[in-house]
Amino acid sequence: MNNHESCQMDKLHPGLTQELLKALYLEGLVRWFCEIKVSPWALTWRHFLGTVALLLLVLLFLSGAFMAFYYTPSPGAAYDSVDFAVFNLPFGEVIKGIHHYAWNLLLIVVGLHLARTFVRGTYKAPRQGVWISGVILFLFLPMFIITGDLLPWDQKGYWSTQVRLSIIASVPVVGDIMTRLLQGGALTGIVALTRFYVLHIIFMPVLLLILLVIHFHFILHLGLAEPLKPNDTLPARKSFFPIVVNRALLLFLLTTLALGLVSWYWPPPFGDPADPTDTSYIPKPEWWVLFLNQLVSIFSGSLSVVGTVIIPGGLAALLVLLPFMDRSPERRPAKRVKVMIIASVIILILTWLSVIGYRAHFLTAH
Ligand code: HEM
Repeated sequence: MNNHESCQMDKLHPGLTQELLKALYLEGLVRWFCEIKVSPWALTWRHFLGTVALLLLVLLFLSGAFMAFYYTPSPGAAYDSVDFAVFNLPFGEVIKGIHHYAWNLLLIVVGLHLARTFVRGTYKAPRQGVWISGVILFLFLPMFIITGDLLPWDQKGYWSTQVRLSIIASVPVVGDIMTRLLQGGALTGIVALTRFYVLHIIFMPVLLLILLVIHFHFILHLGLAEPLKPNDTLPARKSFFPIVVNRALLLFLLTTLALGLVSWYWPPPFGDPADPTDTSYIPKPEWWVLFLNQLVSIFSGSLSVVGTVIIPGGLAALLVLLPFMDRSPERRPAKRVKVMIIASVIILILTWLSVIGYRAHFLTAH
């Protein structure tokens, strides 16, 4: 079988597809794509977490683009524009809900994807590039949430932003300039909202795309790591298309349906309009930031830098540098006892901090 015949796309749609692709000068690109060959273990369902993360990003882009048609980035109009889109447009609430639940699920899915690649030791040489680009993607995701939270201009978004800005401002040396750059003045007003909006819909998506291209460049070049059990290994490389693409489409439909149903039955949160004079409003931290909030509250005064910069920065540096600190080629978790114990202790401490944070913010009456 030659290369031409092995292209599955030719088999699916001979004739018209060929002519159309030729006319659009896309034949070469499509042929390259559908002739990608991968190791057989890359075609198993075990590798679905990275695909679901990618699909959730697509859903976030699509639902965000729909909402942008009606959104007005000005403090006097933002809340009403969101209110109109949610309550007057068909499926407005479902679209906002899909956007809301998709980023929550994305954090969980990317966290599990990171955990899986960690346990399987796939961060080791030669896959350091895949791991580091993944860590940067992971650390970058919260920036979308931080900038997105302010956009509806409701009480929760406004006051959560105030808390975050005051934490950023307390960072030594760069805190002040970063707050000024984000806020554009002494108060969180129209300049801040415009900057958060531009960051959220232009700068960050472009940066994210670049990071994804880097992640996939390394994956395509190196292939996925071999299974840990050698008897899982099958010899011949197989066509990536259409198996992976079909699975991705199926997962995309199922994820969209599931998030749509969840949004229909449990509409996304949307509080009262922001009132910058209401200093009695205390925003509750979201689940993913509970441990950080707790860290910040443990270290106060001159030690606050430990909770805001040193510990979170140290953890981020540990993640990035992991492939250079754990250099042995051994990938089996049972043979990597030291690194597994250290990771488990860190996860236990972060979970414990989150539980304390949850009890303090959600179970204790203020
Ligand atoms: C939005 C974020 C991300 C997306 C869309 C994404 C996507 C993917 C996809 C589609 C794959 C191939 C299939 C699979 O193994 O699941 C993959 C593999 C991989 N990813 Fe990610 N990823 C993301 C974040 C991360 C993070 C945070 C890490 C770790 C810090 C990471 C590390 C890896 C590694 C090491 C592999 C290779 C796994 C192997 O060789 O078996 N990725 N990623």
